Amino acid sequence: MPSPRESLSEICRDAGHEYLLKHWGRLTPSEREELEKQIRTLDFELLRGLSPNALPESIPDDWVALSARAEPPDAVRLGQLYRGISAKDACEEGARALSDGKVAMILVAGGQGTRLGFDLPKGMYPIGPISGRTLFEMHVDSLKGAMRRFGVSIPLWIMTGPSTHAPTEAYFAEHENLGLRPDELFLFQQGTMPAIDATHGRILMESPGQLALSPDGHGGIVAALARCGALAMAKQRGVEQFFYAQVDNPMVTACDPTMVGYHRLAGSQMTTQVVRKRFAKERVGNVVSIDGKTQIIEYSDLPDAAAEQTNPDGSLKLWAGNIAVHVFDLEFLEATAASAHGLPFHRALKAVSFVDESGELQKPSKPNAIKFERFVFDLLPMAERTLVIEGDASQVFAPVKNADGAPTDTPSATKQAISSLHATWLADAGVIVKPGVQVEINPIWAWDPGEVRQKINAPANVVADTYFA
Ligand code: UTP
Repeated sequence: MPSPRESLSEICRDAGHEYLLKHWGRLTPSEREELEKQIRTLDFELLRGLSPNALPESIPDDWVALSARAEPPDAVRLGQLYRGISAKDACEEGARALSDGKVAMILVAGGQGTRLGFDLPKGMYPIGPISGRTLFEMHVDSLKGAMRRFGVSIPLWIMTGPSTHAPTEAYFAEHENLGLRPDELFLFQQGTMPAIDATHGRILMESPGQLALSPDGHGGIVAALARCGALAMAKQRGVEQFFYAQVDNPMVTACDPTMVGYHRLAGSQMTTQVVRKRFAKERVGNVVSIDGKTQIIEYSDLPDAAAEQTNPDGSLKLWAGNIAVHVFDLEFLEATAASAHGLPFHRALKAVSFVDESGELQKPSKPNAIKFERFVFDLLPMAERTLVIEGDASQVFAPVKNADGAPTDTPSATKQAISSLHATWLADAGVIVKPGVQVEINPIWAWDPGEVRQKINAPANVVADTYFA
C-alpha cells in the first residue's frame, strides 16, 4: 500500500506533472496538506483536453462565418405583445409562481473584481446614492421587497469565489444575514481552475506550496449548485425557477415577476434579459440566433461588418445586448449539471506570476499563461427552448465594473442611474424632484412605481427608511 505521499507522487507522475512536488521538501506540514488537497481536486483529464495551442489571437474564421449567419433573436420587445402574451399577463403569472414559492434567487459574487480595484468583495461596495447601502444590501432589500409583495419566503443562494468566500461569510455573519433567516440565505463556493503555462501546458504555481488557481467563471455555477446540494434542496422546497443576477448590477428587480411569467408562459428553459445596444461595437455580448439556436457572440468576436448591419429604419440589426439577468428552469440546470461535458471552457491569455523550478517568483510583464473560465450564457445554445426579453437599460442596468475616472460603468454612473430611475418613480407619483437632487427609494418601502404611488397617496404609511433628499 503506497503512503499518501507516494500516491500523490504517482498521481502527479501519471498525469505528467511531477514538477508540482518539486518544492515539497521545503514545505511546512500545513502547506503540504494544502498542496495535496489542491492537487487531489485537479481534473487532469479535463486539463489534458484543454490544449495550450489554438489561442485566439484574432477573430477566428468560424466567428466570421457564424456572425454572417447571425440573426436577431426572437424576443419580447418593449411595449409589444409576444405571441399574444401581454406584459400584464406575464406579470400575473410570475406573481402567482412567486406567491406559490416556485421561485428562488441566485446572485453570483465570485469574481475578483479586478477592474474596480476594491480590496473587499465587490458585494461589499457601498453604492446606495444616499444610504451608502452595499451592493449586497441593495439586492437583499430588493428580495425582501419581493417577499413582502408576494407574501412568501424566497431563498437566496449567493455564489462566492476563493478570494471572496471568507470575507463574504464574515460580512453576512456580522450583519445578521442582512435580516434573512438561516433558511433563506445560502453561501456556496464556485470551483477553481489552474493557470497553465501558454507554451508547455504546465500548471503554474503561485508559491512553492500553492497552485495558481482562479475562479472558474460565472459558468462554474452549474457544477457548484449541484455540488453544494442547492439543486436538490431547491427541488425539495418546490422551486421550479431560479432568477439569476450578478452582484455588480444593483438595478435588478429581484425575481422580476414579469420575466418569470414570460418564461413560464412561453415554456422557456432559459430566459435572458437584454437591452438595446446604443452603438454597433458596444462592449456587451450580442444575443443572436444562429441556425435556430440562441447564443451570445462577445463584442470582441463580432466582426465590424456584422455589428454594423442595419435595418431599413437605420436601427441595428443585431440589437440585443446581454446584461446577464436570466431565469433558469431548475430541471434544465439539473440536466446540464448531469451531462458529461457541462459548459465549455474559454481561454484567456494573461500575465500570471509563478515560481520557477528554482523556487524564484517570476513576474512576467507579458502574457505567459492561459486561464480557463466557463460563461453562464453558454447555457443558451444548450437549451431547447429559450426566450429573450428586452428591458429598458435606464430601468434595469447600471453595473459597477470600473473605478471612478473610467469612461463607463463606474460607481458614480451607477449611483446616478439609481437616483434618476427613482426620480422617475417619484415623478410618476406626482412628486417633483428638482434637477441635481439625488433620491433613493428603499425597495423594502416601495418595490416598484405602483407601490411608490400608493405610499405617496397615503402619507400615514411613509416610514423612515425612505431616502428623499
Ligand atoms: P465580471 O466578468 O464582470 O468579473 O463578472 P468581476 O470579477 O466582477 O470583475 P473583473 O472582470 O475582475 O474586473 C460578472 C459577474 O460574474 C461574477 C462576478 O462576481 C460578477 O457578479 N463572477 C465572475 C463570478 O461569480 N465568478 C467568476 O469566476 C467570474
